Amino acid sequence: MKILVTGAAGFIGYHVSTRLLQLGHDVIGLDNLNDYYDPALKKARLAELVSAAFTDVRADIADQAAMTRVFSEERPDAVLNLAAETHVDRSLDGPRAFVDTNIVGTFVLLETARQFITALPPAERERFRFLHVSTDEVYGTLASTGQFSEETPYAPNSPYAASKASADHLARAYFHSYGVPVLITNCSNNYGPYQFPEKLIPLMITNAIDGKDLPVYGDGLNVRDWLYVEDCCRAIDAVLHSGRSGEVYNIGSRAEKTNLEIVTTLLDLLNRPHSLIKFVTDRLGHDRRYATDPDKIETELGWHPQETFESGIQKTVRWYQDNAIWIARARSGEYLQYYERMYGET
Ligand code: NAD
Ligand code: DAU
Repeated sequence: MKILVTGAAGFIGYHVSTRLLQLGHDVIGLDNLNDYYDPALKKARLAELVSAAFTDVRADIADQAAMTRVFSEERPDAVLNLAAETHVDRSLDGPRAFVDTNIVGTFVLLETARQFITALPPAERERFRFLHVSTDEVYGTLASTGQFSEETPYAPNSPYAASKASADHLARAYFHSYGVPVLITNCSNNYGPYQFPEKLIPLMITNAIDGKDLPVYGDGLNVRDWLYVEDCCRAIDAVLHSGRSGEVYNIGSRAEKTNLEIVTTLLDLLNRPHSLIKFVTDRLGHDRRYATDPDKIETELGWHPQETFESGIQKTVRWYQDNAIWIARARSGEYLQYYERMYGET
């Protein structure tokens, strides 16, 4: 299959493209590399994807003319939409970019796909798939019990979550109104190699390695459901190839941890003192708990996570220890200004 992967230079986009190439697919990796403070990791990820089966495309998913050109030149059999603004803190700092990419960009892609498949012969139209990758954050926050299922009503709390929820609604509407064969995945917090250190786990690992404070928001008792990135990619692949159009699949691995459990685990693995933990001002509107029920994807598609949290986190820590050069480059330039704005120091 020839698969258009948007956001291919990003964390999950890189891992899913790697998997698809290994499985023998052709990948059109589309990304606008817009993140001014993450160029080193994005370039490193793209460099690893270079191969005869990988086409590197620089474009913005919100640019209608560019998307029309990409579809007509590359003629994909499927679209995996991962391109997005993804960091909750940055959505609180500047929500506009989240509306532009996550809502308008997804709309443009859906509209381009609709026009593209209308002109396809019936057999090819029948085969076409549009998998929109979304998040469990669209469901809002949980108290101490319960899990998100595919039927949980949407209740997004951050500008990021609201922009993803809007995109999901558009994707659903394109299936129901126009018959575009859309599938949606809502997955929980990913972690693993090559994640940019703005997100909790890579930030805490790299700070601990450098002997810097570990900034924990609020009381540190917020809970997230942690999914090793390669397990997420296997799930996305399973939904793309075997999922039913119009359906939603939640992806999670039943690995709930408080943020404090995460940071103490990391400090222990890295042999650093717990005194590096520093409680800082809480995130605005900070969701208390996420937990995602993967029952549907397990039952229907036979997907199960292969990593436990313990095995996944050890692999992840080892990768950051072995790849200090990329991390040093990723944590330079504009990133330092971001870090100072967020945490008041460099
Ligand atoms: P990421 O920020 O690492 O990657 C996103 C990529 O999209 C970046 O390379 C960026 O340059 C690209 N991009 C942004 N705007 C674009 C635009 N307008 N046009 C083209 N490319 C653009 O994020 P990630 O963690 O890999 O997340 C990928 C997808 O998975 C996102 O849709 C995100 O909402 C979703 N998701 C992520 C997680 C997680 O824990 N990381 C969990 C659930 C869902
Ligand atoms: O649930 C899926 C979502 O997970 C994805 O859709 C998002 O793209 C992804 O960024 C992630 O969102 P979170 O807000 O849950 O992830 P983050 O790594 O930013 O934060 C995880 C938890 O750690 C959250 O409770 C906030 C806390 N945190 C985060 C940072 C960066 C801290 O305590 N200190 C920090 O410095």
